[in-house]
Amino acid sequence: MKRTIVIFSGAGLSAESGIPTFRDADGVWEQHRIEDVATPEAWRRNKQLVLEFYAMRFHKAQEVQPNPAHHAIAMLQKNFTVINITQNIDTLLERAGCTSVWHLHGRIDFQKCEHHYSLQFLDEFFPACDFSSQIFKPIKLGDTCPKCALQLRPDVVWFGEPVDMRENELFSLQKEADIFIGIGTSAQVYPAAGLLSVFRYTKEKYFIDPKPAYEVLNGFSVLQGTASEQMPKLAESLLR
Ligand code: APR
Repeated sequence: MKRTIVIFSGAGLSAESGIPTFRDADGVWEQHRIEDVATPEAWRRNKQLVLEFYAMRFHKAQEVQPNPAHHAIAMLQKNFTVINITQNIDTLLERAGCTSVWHLHGRIDFQKCEHHYSLQFLDEFFPACDFSSQIFKPIKLGDTCPKCALQLRPDVVWFGEPVDMRENELFSLQKEADIFIGIGTSAQVYPAAGLLSVFRYTKEKYFIDPKPAYEVLNGFSVLQGTASEQMPKLAESLLR
């Protein structure tokens, strides 16, 4: 029976691939205001600006390659059941060969109808539309839902929208996990960051980050450094 590793990742995992993080110096939120590009109100106010922001992120995600940390995580699948729970909307883990990736904040290469679970910001009541599909080029203004003819939007979670934390699966995973690894997250955004305490009873816990958020890392073995430095070393020691 393979032992189970749960890996919770944030933007730092993809930083060395060339995708900027959010809160580091010259991060995404220094270039763009969250209120202008990543909230339902921003969407209602200026769909074009939101679509331009995600088109830029779509192209960026396509240009870059998985880094040694993504490949090291994929390598662990040889001897372990590896469940990735990521806040990242890129698909670098999948492109490195990871087969189980939960995208808590959605995926940059998926679109959905603007009425998909978006009722909370529409005054009038509409039946939520469940249309969602993979995209191979950025969404444009005028791209409409084939089911209800409304504008299509990025299938990502904006600030103020609900996150599907898959509580039931998380509850059983919490019991199954033999090892928990946190990598490249400032652990500032809930409910995702709550995962660090969901797995607090996991016997073996590691955290990889050049600037670890020590205040939330009680009981963790902190491996201070970048993902590409530390993840391959950790994977090698676990595969020994
Ligand atoms: N290797 C590992 N970690 C790194 C690296 C690197 N090369 N470079 C930076 N980091 C770390 C930073 O020290 C920081 O702890 O990655 C983390 C990035 O933190 P954030 O920019 O806050 O990104 P993240 O934690 O993923 O943000 C969570 O917030 O804005 C929302 O939806 C967005 O999913 C995102 C969520």
